[in-house]
Amino acid sequence: MKHLISLNDLSIEEFEEILKLSEKLKRQLKEGIQHHLLKGKTLGMIFTKSSTRTRVSFEVGMYQLGGYPLFLSSNDIQLGRGESIYDTAQVLSRFIDGIMIRTFKQSDVEDLAKYGNIPVINGLTDLMHPCQILADLFTVYEHKGKLKGLKMAYIGDGNNVANSLLHGCAKAGMDIAVAAPKGYECDETIIAEAMETAKVTGSKILLTTDPEEAISNADAVYTDTWVSMGQESEKESKIKVFTPYQVNGQLFSKAKEDAVFLHCLPAYRGYEVTEDVIDGPQSVIFDEAENRMHVQKAVMALVMGS
Ligand code: CP
Ligand code: NVA
Repeated sequence: MKHLISLNDLSIEEFEEILKLSEKLKRQLKEGIQHHLLKGKTLGMIFTKSSTRTRVSFEVGMYQLGGYPLFLSSNDIQLGRGESIYDTAQVLSRFIDGIMIRTFKQSDVEDLAKYGNIPVINGLTDLMHPCQILADLFTVYEHKGKLKGLKMAYIGDGNNVANSLLHGCAKAGMDIAVAAPKGYECDETIIAEAMETAKVTGSKILLTTDPEEAISNADAVYTDTWVSMGQESEKESKIKVFTPYQVNGQLFSKAKEDAVFLHCLPAYRGYEVTEDVIDGPQSVIFDEAENRMHVQKAVMALVMGS
C-alpha cells in the first residue's frame, strides 16, 4: 500500500490487513502496550474544510505511533492563496513523511500523490471518505463478529460517505442497499467499480429510491447529513427532497431486530435521523468515532511504516 486515496485501490488482502492491524492496535492501546511504529516520522494534515473527528483522531493517533502530526489549515498555508498542488507536493515531500488531506476535489488528492513522493491519505473529498468507511466496517465487525454475508442499508444522500460505503461493502463481501432520491444517487463510476468488486466477493448491491426496500432485513443501517460541507446554499431544497428519507423509529423498526445504527457524524437530529434512533440502544455512533483513530493508525503504519 503506497497511499489511501480510494478504497477501490485496495486489494481484498490489503483491506483485510487494515482491519486486522486496527484490531491489534486497539487491543494493545487498551492493554497499555506501546507501539511506536512511526517513531520520529511527521504527518502533515492539510484541511480546507472543517473537522473534529478526522483532525483529532489523526493527530492523537500519530502521537500514539511515536510520530508528530502537523496541522496545516488552508487558511494558513500558501495552497489557500493559490500555490499549485505540484509545488506544494514537491515542497512537503522534502520535509515530512506523509500527508493527510481533507479537501473538495478528489483530483487534488490524486495530484498530491502523483507529484509528491510521500504517501497520501484521503481524509474526505466531495467524492469519497475512505477512512470513515474503514472505521464503520471495523465497528460493524466488532459488533457482529463478521462482515461477509451481512447487509448494510444506507438511507439518504448519495454523497462521499455513501460512495465509499459502496466500495467498502463490496470489498468486505457485505451486501449493500442504498436508498437515495432521484437526482442524488451515488457516483456512477463508483457504482460500476463496486459492482466489479462484488462479482469477486459475492456481495449484492441494490440501488433504489425506496427507503423501506433498502432497510428490509438490514444488519446495519447508516445515514449521513443531508447537507454536506460546501452545500450550505442547497439546504432548504435538500430538506424538502430528503424528508421521506429520515431514519426514524418507524423506518428503523423495518431493519433486523438486532440491527446497529451508524452515522459518521456530525449528525443533525430531527433531520436525517431522530433522537430515538441515534441515541437509542442500537446506535454505535461513538464506537465508530473512536474507531476512526484505530483504523487510521493502521493505515498510517501500513503506508508510512518501514
Ligand atoms: N466523520 C467525520 O469525518 O467527522 P469530522 O468532519 O469531524 O472530521
Ligand atoms: N457528507 C459529509 C460528511 C462529513 C464527515 C460532508 O461531506 O460534509
